[in-house]
Amino acid sequence: MVRETAAGPASLHVSSHPLVRHKMRLLADQRTEPKVFRELVKEVTTLLLYEATRDLPLRFVRYQTPLEETDGVEIAVKIGLVPILRAGLGMVEAALDVLPGSQVWHLGMYRDEETHRPVSYYNRLPETCPDDLVIVLDPMLATGGSAADAASVLKRWGAPSIIFVGLIAAPEGADLMGRSHPDVSLVVARLDRQLDERRFIRPGLGDAGDRLFGTDLM
Ligand code: PRP
Repeated sequence: MVRETAAGPASLHVSSHPLVRHKMRLLADQRTEPKVFRELVKEVTTLLLYEATRDLPLRFVRYQTPLEETDGVEIAVKIGLVPILRAGLGMVEAALDVLPGSQVWHLGMYRDEETHRPVSYYNRLPETCPDDLVIVLDPMLATGGSAADAASVLKRWGAPSIIFVGLIAAPEGADLMGRSHPDVSLVVARLDRQLDERRFIRPGLGDAGDRLFGTDLM
């Protein structure tokens, strides 16, 4: 089992914040309609990013208040956000609100229903990685296959440092990430009990992509 500790190398950080836990119950509740679901995904993403960025390096700057010149700090790293399509799109707006200077790069993957393996269908990364830190956004870490493949793609691209931010994880997915990418920090809102025989997270919240975009209603 992956050790559970504060965000850092080879770590799984599960938020224990009461606001996150309260909102995650609402999010997972099957009565929650897509509009409220989307709002909750944004709210939890904001709170998770606050936790995920707690160790961002800062540099000192000299600046002027309306009254005098003084010393202050600013974030010293360039950050790229990588939502995994589709469901990661629901987290982008909140992430950009918190980190407005970030660039957004897109990766598209879906999980094959038979094999449960991720299938890559979109990659809009530029030739070289311009960022010091890449934050992957995907609400769900189930088998961990999608996150592990995304981390491999981002490492080959040259990403110097990667943090995965997700809403809900299964122990199986966290274990796979810990084994295959121990240098990637995982920051999630909830760690659930297990995967079922269809590789769905239990108790889970259903399919985040479908609930975000209302496609389970079709
Ligand atoms: C979901 C989810 C992850 C992946 C997690 O995407 O958003 O990307 O499955 O599963 P894994 O950890 O077992 O790889 P899905 O395939 O439902 O595509 P969607 O985002 O388009 O709905």
